[in-house]
Amino acid sequence: KCKTVTVDKESAEPVVHHGLEGVLAFESEVAFIDGHAPELLVRGYDIADLAHNFGYEQMAYLLVYGQVPNADELAAFNTELADLRPLPGPVLDLLRTAPASAHPMAVLRTAVSLLGVLDANADDIDQDSLLAAAKSLTAKFPTLVAAQTRLQAGLEPVGPEGARLGHAANYLYMVDGTEPAEPLRRAFDAALVLYAEHETNASTFACRVVVGTESDLYSAVVAGLGAIKGPLHGGAIDGAMNMLVTIGSADNAAAYVDAALAAKRKLPGFGHRVYRAGDPRASELREMALEMAAAVGDSKWFDIAIAAEKRMAETKGIIPNVDYFAAPVLYQLGFPLNLMTNVVASARITGWSAHIIEQYKKNRLIRPRALYTGERGKRLN
Ligand code: COA
Repeated sequence: KCKTVTVDKESAEPVVHHGLEGVLAFESEVAFIDGHAPELLVRGYDIADLAHNFGYEQMAYLLVYGQVPNADELAAFNTELADLRPLPGPVLDLLRTAPASAHPMAVLRTAVSLLGVLDANADDIDQDSLLAAAKSLTAKFPTLVAAQTRLQAGLEPVGPEGARLGHAANYLYMVDGTEPAEPLRRAFDAALVLYAEHETNASTFACRVVVGTESDLYSAVVAGLGAIKGPLHGGAIDGAMNMLVTIGSADNAAAYVDAALAAKRKLPGFGHRVYRAGDPRASELREMALEMAAAVGDSKWFDIAIAAEKRMAETKGIIPNVDYFAAPVLYQLGFPLNLMTNVVASARITGWSAHIIEQYKKNRLIRPRALYTGERGKRLN
């Protein structure tokens, strides 16, 4: 585990905060979490309020500009994002030529790195250039992930539509080749809003560490992608859906959970470092998973998820996190088992951007210490 050292003022003893648990690393106006309430505020607004009332573009604007857009600002923002959706040729070539065996998140991470290489202003870290790069990545992430989804299925990528289709509708259109039905578009929009921002999670912290050295935005986002790929973070959504598929039916859920716990395995989609009593995003996604099951006429995944959740509550008392119910929602929207983390990253880009912009505004190098537990006084001869 990661260790930092502070010195207890009274005893002068070093204190190690394993995993930086409970450490306040900087001040931020982006998001607030109360793990006990539980509550998540983004720019002061409750996450459920945002998920019910905002499309992803509004959420993106709120995050990167720090305020709710008026109608004119939103219309201009939508047009700007729509114009930025197409990918440069070399990036599409990379997606086409990456080996099928490569992890989809490794391909996405490499594609974003290449976007930075192709951006002549990538190293400009003034606020206007940062905003421009953040908007470009926000617009291009869905084009990347949709193209990955289609290429994996042996299909040609479908290019983006113009501003006629909003962010979420265009995203699903690029995956499926047809415009989504309204309930599906709405569910996807809400899922993207719920995933957009989550305070000092591991990937956001990684972004801020990179900014701390005054490196560029693309490097920070690539670090964020590297962190969110892991199964303890965003990668848990792929694990959660794989688990539901393995369980196979609601009747098997209790036995599966019991066996996993007996083997001391961590079940993906359960548990959280900050929320111990419930993840407010999971509550929203539970409702959405139920609505999605009704919309597509198949409640199998929802039924399995509810049965396993019940068993976890009865035995270990551990709560489902955001990834648990998002997994069946994204799966039923047509995203394959190994590409859901990519969708999560494509939503989190705006949260990362907000933190990156904030860190540049009031930067201080992030450089913790370690408590040395190795040997001393060794000699080579
Ligand atoms: N399945 C089974 N047991 C779990 C668990 C899970 N998903 N998550 C935590 N626990 C158990 C731990 O084994 C530990 O039990 P113990 O006290 O009997 O040893 C206890 O709950 C505390 O867990 P801990 O590992 O200290 O929590 P953490 O804050 O370090 O870890 C996570 C938080 C998210 C890393 C952890 O819950 C996890 O690995 N979850 C699965 C991956 C996941 O869904 N990640 C996405 C998070 S949004």
